[in-house]
Amino acid sequence: MANTILVGAQWGDEGKGKIIDFLTDDADIVVRSQGGNNAGHTIVIGEKKYVLHLIPSGILRRGKTCVIGNGVVIDPIALVGEIEGLRACGIKIQRNLLISEAAHLVFPYHQALDAQREALKGSNKIGTTKRGIGPAYGDKAARTGLRLCDLMQSTTFPEKLAKRVRENNIVLRSLNAKPVSYKQILEDYQVAAEVLRPFVCNTVAYIHQAMSKGKNLLFEGAQGTYLDLDHGTYPFVTSSNTTAGGACTGSGVPPHRMDSVIGVMKAYTTRVGEGPFPTENEDLGNLLHEMGREFGATTGRARRCGWFDAVATRYASMINGIDKLAITNLDGLDHVKKIRVCIGYRLEGRVIHTPPIIASDVDKCEPIYREIPGWNCSTTEARTYEELPLKARKYLELIAKLTGAKLKIISVGASRAQTICT
Ligand code: IMP
Ligand code: MG
Repeated sequence: MANTILVGAQWGDEGKGKIIDFLTDDADIVVRSQGGNNAGHTIVIGEKKYVLHLIPSGILRRGKTCVIGNGVVIDPIALVGEIEGLRACGIKIQRNLLISEAAHLVFPYHQALDAQREALKGSNKIGTTKRGIGPAYGDKAARTGLRLCDLMQSTTFPEKLAKRVRENNIVLRSLNAKPVSYKQILEDYQVAAEVLRPFVCNTVAYIHQAMSKGKNLLFEGAQGTYLDLDHGTYPFVTSSNTTAGGACTGSGVPPHRMDSVIGVMKAYTTRVGEGPFPTENEDLGNLLHEMGREFGATTGRARRCGWFDAVATRYASMINGIDKLAITNLDGLDHVKKIRVCIGYRLEGRVIHTPPIIASDVDKCEPIYREIPGWNCSTTEARTYEELPLKARKYLELIAKLTGAKLKIISVGASRAQTICT
């Protein structure tokens, strides 16, 4: 398989968890490079459903090593909870998990700030997951963050934490929010530290050693291209680089060692949280929600839904260098009579084919649609490309052509078996 980066080509929740789980078969090591427990990756194996937030989805396969890289922000309490939850399901977590000592930590004051800043924004809120992700990456950029290596040093950690709590409580009080308890955080984090200690190491050295032995790496992207801090619909984005470049900076693997980029996209579009979404369509949303689909894995929020947006995915393909496509949730469109695909935007009378940089301009874009007939039958039993209805194949080929990448994987349901390779 060589070294492969997998990214979301839309606004997150493209079904990356399932595709990662599928591809892990051919990988030796699965690496997370950015984001935190704002991510929610759902994987269904047999009768069981697993939702992972921080631990790479590869953990569910035996004999695979999972790495949480330096670019991830870690809430140690959440991570310990996830490890314990997986162990309770019989998943072994021992030497198959490595966590970068350089990864920054998320603290309760980050979560409190996240929540309070959102509350103060009122109707201009971003709609964050309130996991403290923005403030934690903010501290990292401001060079005031604490890292996992700090937590591992039991003698110096208390003083470092005390300083951060003092400063953040001043800010919290000034924003009319409740200050956090130093004592409680110290106690909770020291307990978590001991659970995490066996996994903490220099993951860059580990990964490079593995590469020199010819091991295959799979980089598991979290969130999606339009939530990227630099390339997304700013400020309605997350605080990390969700695009392919983030896999390099967040893991310490140089760009020329990457062999391929797989872009995952739904056969339609969804978004959770606020921000522009040109192809949003309430009727399609109602239909999908009635089918029990499109509720967030992290927050349970109903996702906003809309038609496939080829303007957005073509640009995503460019930024990420996507060479292969994984199209998921095709079965979500099984009973839609007329399917629409956005092939251009109309902005103030002009037709454009690149998403505008300013979020309020994206908001003003009117999609130009091409309408194609639906296939009106179930695709969930198809196991080969030929078994898909002709109209569904035509639809897939159209969106691949508009996106500008090669069709590689099609998903027609949550289970491992419901995966078609072209
Ligand atoms: P934050 O990452 O919690 O700061 O949230 C910022 C924006 O990114 C909000 O619109 C969230 O809904 C969105 N977001 C963050 N993580 C995910 C994800 O894993 N899937 C989909 N949306 C996400
Ligand atoms: Mg998700």
